[in-house]
Amino acid sequence: MANKVRIGIIGAGAVSDYHHVPGIRLDPRCELVAIADPNEALLQQRQKDWGPTRAYANYEDLARDPEVDAVIIATPNFTHLAQTLACLEGNKHVMCEKPLGLSFEESAQMFRAARDRGLRHMTAFTYRFAPSMRYVRHLVKSGALGTPRHFRSQRFLDWPETSWGWRQYKKLAGAGDLFDMTIHRIDFSQDLMGPIKSICGAVAQFAPRDKTVDGQPCAPSEVDDWSSLIGLFDNGATGVWEGSTLMKGHHNNGFGYEWAEVNGSEGSAAYQLTDPNNVILGKYGGTMEKVPVPKEFLVIPGSPRDPTQGVPSTVFRYDLVWEFVSAIVEGRDAVPGFDHGATAQAVADAVLESFEKRAWVEIQADLG
Ligand SMILES: NC(=O)c1ccc[n+]([C@@H]2O[C@H](COP(=O)([O-])OP(=O)(O)OC[C@H]3O[C@@H](n4cnc5c(N)ncnc54)[C@H](O)[C@@H]3O)[C@@H](O)[C@H]2O)c1
Repeated sequence: MANKVRIGIIGAGAVSDYHHVPGIRLDPRCELVAIADPNEALLQQRQKDWGPTRAYANYEDLARDPEVDAVIIATPNFTHLAQTLACLEGNKHVMCEKPLGLSFEESAQMFRAARDRGLRHMTAFTYRFAPSMRYVRHLVKSGALGTPRHFRSQRFLDWPETSWGWRQYKKLAGAGDLFDMTIHRIDFSQDLMGPIKSICGAVAQFAPRDKTVDGQPCAPSEVDDWSSLIGLFDNGATGVWEGSTLMKGHHNNGFGYEWAEVNGSEGSAAYQLTDPNNVILGKYGGTMEKVPVPKEFLVIPGSPRDPTQGVPSTVFRYDLVWEFVSAIVEGRDAVPGFDHGATAQAVADAVLESFEKRAWVEIQADLG
């Protein structure tokens, strides 16, 4: 490896621009050296916006590039498995966007391939990095809330009812809100409470989404606009999750509404995406009140990010790259890894199975 970790990005779309490139810019231990995307016009634009890099129309060329040490994969969901396997074959560490694959089987295959090659692997579960989420986790793990008994999350977005592009076709996305949004909340609930044991799920489609934003007809959506589950954790705690992208009035400058809380035997703590530098805390007999997140939880350890800069609901996302690069330079597992991506996927798959069968489903997440 060169002096700096040389990073390649596959998929030069929205999330690379919003999270990953600012994260790379902030981290003096790494540099962006190559990008791959089949959209030639976008590649040219990114060369202007992100600075000069090697540019490839095919991801296979980036996966073979010997001067790339690590890859961030931020492409439509159906491409994650093949791209990850190609990058691992090229001996590169991989951070891949969520959902890791289209199914638990795909995600577990990605985990085993990275583990067996001794390469670093990370799932881009962004919200684990929110200061308030990190502090809620600390409160749960330190016992400050007593025994955790209950988890709740709600994620509502007010998006247009027009086409969602690749995100609305099963073969390309796997599922809708469930794989796009609720899977994050499944992940962080397991990080807070431990593994989910069994669930009962439901999904619904509210709109056909058969027109593009500019009014052209298109094939209707095949995926859910609303996803929900109730579940039981291994430790005996209960959980309730709900999300939708079509909740009118919840636009809030694109940030939507997000609430997640843990209720324990002695106290409760809540996280909100829209106020990530504060938590809401309450103790038995008291009232839930806003409390600032202590300074040491505002960035992940070592991150050079100044938490007073930028929009709080956006900037914590830059710490993902810090964690990925730290795992590479320190020779340790990145957190969350592909194992976390796969176990969240097992639960998300079970939501679809449960709804189809109208039955509770036991979670099977044997990573092999
Ligand atoms: N972690 C998060 O909070 C978060 C947020 C948004 C999106 N995502 C995930 O990131 C991924 C990308 O989402 P997005 O919003 O950036 O989508 P997008 O449609 O804006 O961008 C996807 C890009 O991938 C490119 N692409 C398509 N096929 C490719 C291929 N075979 N090789 C290389 N590039 C290819 C497209 O041309 C496009 O530029 C998805 O898996 C999504 O679920 C995660």
